[in-house]
Amino acid sequence: MASELINLVDLDAELQTQSPRKILKHALAHFDNIAISFSGAEDVVLVDMAVSMKPDIQVFTLDTGRLHAETYRFIDKVREHYGIRIDVLSPDGEALRRFVGEKGLFSFYQDGHQECCGIRKIEPLRRKLHTLDAWITGQRKDQSPGTRAGIPVIQNDTAFARPGATLTKFNPLANWSSQDVWDYIRGNNLPYNELHDRGFISIGCEPCTKPVGPGQHEREGRWWWEEATKKECGLHGENIKQ
Ligand code: ADX
Ligand code: SF4
Repeated sequence: MASELINLVDLDAELQTQSPRKILKHALAHFDNIAISFSGAEDVVLVDMAVSMKPDIQVFTLDTGRLHAETYRFIDKVREHYGIRIDVLSPDGEALRRFVGEKGLFSFYQDGHQECCGIRKIEPLRRKLHTLDAWITGQRKDQSPGTRAGIPVIQNDTAFARPGATLTKFNPLANWSSQDVWDYIRGNNLPYNELHDRGFISIGCEPCTKPVGPGQHEREGRWWWEEATKKECGLHGENIKQ
């Protein structure tokens, strides 16, 4: 086990210098049961690259029930554009009904986003990840200096592995900047979420996302009423531990 972890650290050091395409190639060569976690925003880049290597790549998205209409339209556009199946995951109906019944639809403005994200994102994500051996995310270091500056390209995801199994997490875009992502999107004429044309950079749920102004960091548009170091919803909880 210890040697496996050391190997992963070595492998990460090696992959850190590779392009996202090479990292994806490595991921797809080593794992069959692997899926892209697609947020309906800039990480369409991952779908574009992966489809060219594996046309039936698994893609899933967490439908929190609170996404912008534009994001739902975009998810479907990506599905049609690439001719792929996108697994749209929903929260547990009973847990959600209980939560909303007790605390209403906007409790996160009072007591923080963790509980709502826990029900709408984390539990469905855990259910999905228990069926996989590896997953791929669009996290980048430049998305959040406070919590993502040190993200590895490959890591052992102990937070979401099913008991007794290992789960590997790939962040192929870790070393790309926002500019790199947009050069790729524009240069290859990829579909993108129309909210990006209206000042939105980092896009999550509608009540917890706003556009940012000139000079503001993209993360300032997410959960803006909370401290910068808390702006992780638990999807990538290990970023806070680091
Ligand atoms: S979040 O944790 O703050 O919400 P962020 O929006 O920065 O995450 O996105 C980082 C990566 O997390 C995305 O590239 C994607 O891989 C994954 N992700 C975020 N939101 C979702 C979602 N709703 N469904 C699936 N994956 C998501
Ligand atoms: Fe709930 Fe906001 Fe988290 Fe979406 S981002 S799940 S609306 S707290």
